[in-house]
Amino acid sequence: MIRVAIDGPAGVGKSSTSKALAKHFGFAYLDTGAMYRASAWWCMDQGLDLDSPELDEQQVTETVAALFADSHIDISLDPDNPGIHCDGQDISEAIRSSEVSSRVSKVSGIIPVRHVLIAAQKAYIAGEADEESFSHGAGIVAEGRDITTVVAPHAEVRVLLTAREDVREARRLGQAVQGVGNDDVLARDKADSKVTSFLKASDGVTTVDNSDMDFEQTLQVLIKLVEDAE
Ligand code: C5P
Repeated sequence: MIRVAIDGPAGVGKSSTSKALAKHFGFAYLDTGAMYRASAWWCMDQGLDLDSPELDEQQVTETVAALFADSHIDISLDPDNPGIHCDGQDISEAIRSSEVSSRVSKVSGIIPVRHVLIAAQKAYIAGEADEESFSHGAGIVAEGRDITTVVAPHAEVRVLLTAREDVREARRLGQAVQGVGNDDVLARDKADSKVTSFLKASDGVTTVDNSDMDFEQTLQVLIKLVEDAE
């Protein structure tokens, strides 16, 4: 079983390349950002005002804990059929809206919330949380901000995928034109880097700067790293 951990800032193309990498090897795929986004979406759905200066962090933590503990959430690990459902509702698109993108860091910045999600992510990677959907005997690709360092520090392949700021902004703008919500990626990185360290590779993590690479070139570099680890 090969575990591939990929971290990096927003707008670097982590999700699309990680998903394609998982497909290439027949591995499972875990988008941890989607879990934080779903948590923020759920808090808003439950009536919490994430913009309030008096946001009650304990209440947010309890609300997010209930999302996972009470099995409201269903995450597909199948890279050919990714998606996230909450109480049967497909929220895959809703969690990409600008309402969620602009508030997700408020939820992910609460340390006890992170502990809830990190435990859930470890269970997914260990194959303990995925009863019915996708078998990932061969391996799993997990991507986010703290996978190489906190969630799966012993992964067989650990990569920091990065790109210059102007390139990342341009990529996210392109996504916005395609209908994905508007997203200030640099502001999000600034907020996120207070609680996670994804701007510099930690020891043993391979940096891949794809500023001057297209999607296919990035994918080939990642495929080679996994092949070398097999
Ligand atoms: O990867 P994506 O940009 O969809 O992540 C959405 C948000 O989830 C990030 O801006 C960050 O606040 C949070 N996140 C995190 N730790 C991770 C993955 C995502 O804090 N491992």
